[in-house]
Amino acid sequence: MEKYLPRYVPFFTLLALSGFLFLLWSITSLESWNCQTVSTFYQLQNSIQSVLKTSEFFLPVEFNYSFCAHLGQEPSGEEAREESYLLKSIAWPEPSILGLPLRQSSDPAQSYYSIQDPGELQVGGQLVVKVQMHNFLGQPKKHGGDFLVARLHTPELAAGVAGQVHDHGNGNYTVFFPLLWAGVVQVELIMIHSSEAVMVLRRLREEQSDRVFFKSLFRSGYLSETTLCNLCLPVKQQPLCNYTDPQTGEPWFCYKPKMLDCDTRINHSKGGYKKHLLTVYESQFFQSGVNIKIPIHPAGVENVTVLPASKVRTKGMHLKFTPSGYYYQGSWRPSSGVVMRQFNASSVITQCLRGKMVYMYGDSTVRQWYEYLIAHVPELKEFNFHSPKNVGPYMAVDSNRNILLRYRCHGPPIRFTSVSSAEMHYISNELDGLRGGSDTVVMISIWSHFSTFPVQVYIRRLRHIRRAVIRLLNREPATLILIRTANLQKLDPESSLFNSDWFSQQLDAVLRAMFKGLNVQLVDAWEMTLAHHHPHQLHPPPDIISNMVNLILSYICPVRRKRRRG
Ligand SMILES: *[C@@H]1O[C@H](CO)[C@@H](O)[C@H](O)[C@H]1NC(C)=O
Ligand SMILES: *[C@@H]1O[C@H](CO)[C@@H](O)[C@H](O)[C@H]1NC(C)=O
Ligand SMILES: *[C@@H]1O[C@H](CO)[C@@H](O)[C@H](O)[C@H]1NC(C)=O
Ligand SMILES: *[C@@H]1O[C@H](CO)[C@@H](O)[C@H](O)[C@H]1NC(C)=O
Ligand SMILES: *[C@@H]1O[C@H](CO)[C@@H](O)[C@H](O)[C@H]1NC(C)=O
Ligand SMILES: *[C@@H]1O[C@H](CO)[C@@H](O)[C@H](O)[C@H]1NC(C)=O
Repeated sequence: MEKYLPRYVPFFTLLALSGFLFLLWSITSLESWNCQTVSTFYQLQNSIQSVLKTSEFFLPVEFNYSFCAHLGQEPSGEEAREESYLLKSIAWPEPSILGLPLRQSSDPAQSYYSIQDPGELQVGGQLVVKVQMHNFLGQPKKHGGDFLVARLHTPELAAGVAGQVHDHGNGNYTVFFPLLWAGVVQVELIMIHSSEAVMVLRRLREEQSDRVFFKSLFRSGYLSETTLCNLCLPVKQQPLCNYTDPQTGEPWFCYKPKMLDCDTRINHSKGGYKKHLLTVYESQFFQSGVNIKIPIHPAGVENVTVLPASKVRTKGMHLKFTPSGYYYQGSWRPSSGVVMRQFNASSVITQCLRGKMVYMYGDSTVRQWYEYLIAHVPELKEFNFHSPKNVGPYMAVDSNRNILLRYRCHGPPIRFTSVSSAEMHYISNELDGLRGGSDTVVMISIWSHFSTFPVQVYIRRLRHIRRAVIRLLNREPATLILIRTANLQKLDPESSLFNSDWFSQQLDAVLRAMFKGLNVQLVDAWEMTLAHHHPHQLHPPPDIISNMVNLILSYICPVRRKRRRG
């Protein structure tokens, strides 16, 4: 989630012994050294120097982690049924042949799309695009499973909308776009991963769910030790500290420190990322500029003209895909029915938030909303908790207007730099501590830190959050709950293995299904990043954040309430 760290962990034990000289040596010998790493390194080193005892640090071992998903409470019969339904609904097409050589895998450069006989296109209609995937030999692919995303856009109008891709399972795909504005529209089609790469990601997700690992610092008096932590750990190596949450049953474990007690845990942080996850064969499917996030070009026309809707609407027009919104002149227009308002001055925002308590829970992508509001509303004064930067918890208030804004990160697994063990709270437990009501707004974003785990882990977490949401809505039905979906991000060969959009898309489908029908509003960050012209980024740029915040505030202060007194 945070900046990608080089693998300094193997040096940890050695460093403890040889101290500063070793650090200097490391700086000159490690390639991708950055400032953040250096400061983390100093922190680690200082904490080592403050004790006489050498901390032991264990590297994760090769391990079959497939049992991990069900560690913790067994799901009930109904939960197990839902889980199997959800897993089925996101099942990815399996290629009929495994182990295809690279030359027979999908090559976006030789694949193409063609716009289906457009006829006369009008606003209200749809555009259909056929895609034919080819391999590096230029031959048509015979199986599906490539991960493609698409958008339709008009740069001059700063307009864009996501498309929906249908996989025919034979190397052909069809993409549907709704036509929502008049003008010349062009198609953008991107292969995020080949089907062959997706197979590798699936293997990693099930077998290497410890490829991001965590650690905790234990301290008592002058003694301190650091051990490895995760959702599950091989038991045989060493005794465990069991930090399973008593309220939810969410599992979390650390290796027990040699000298110290499990009760002496001080904080939690990201340990690092495993290396050498792929075989030489597998790594061929993860090449920047070759088969990660590569555009697919058109055969024939790449743009078509959409006319304004005619008086006589085409009857029986059945749209295959209804997006959650689209951009027009840079502004998001949601299709959920909420009227989008522009909160373009701090006074308009404070007017809207007057009397509200806004609670944000989750990862750094919901923290962006907090940061946006703090930056744009000078009346919101931050309370200094002396929290670590980018970790929180955070709080800001405008006591004149009785506005409260809070942010707190979700419970482990979380790849933040350093979370105090006292601040490791699960969202569901936090929700249980809210009274709720029409003055309460809850915003949740939880997805990115789950990308390396089997989907069952995410389902279990969402199940707990959903139960707490239902309890909260039962206590106070007027509570507004907004849930942010996953978004697309920049990928390279390495980050693909940990943060691929493919993992995010799988989790996102589960999130949408699990909260369907509940009185919660989704903020569709997936479509908002896909439809936008800005390159994909884990933390979307201000243009997108401002649209998200406008959307959120439009839910908090809908137009129809505008004329009320106050
Ligand atoms: C992982 O363990 C399970 C159960 O012990 C076993 O069925 C499976 O084949 C193992 N997978 C690998 C890749 O070793
Ligand atoms: C894929 O589409 C092309 C063009 O429409 C067609 O010629 C081809 O037969 C299709 N392939 C399969 C396997 O159906
Ligand atoms: C951890 O603790 C939980 C609840 O306290 C218990 O159900 C679970 O079996 C324990 N797990 C291990 C591996 O000790
Ligand atoms: C439409 O595409 C053609 C090439 O296919 C290009 O020459 C033309 O400039 C494009 N028009 C717009 C408005 O993008
Ligand atoms: C803010 O938005 C309103 C429309 O909602 C517009 O009339 C006004 O000019 C905008 N103000 C600024 C400063 O952009
Ligand atoms: C953990 O806590 C200690 C003591 O409060 C602090 O010095 C350190 O920076 C924290 N973070 C890490 C990663 O150890």
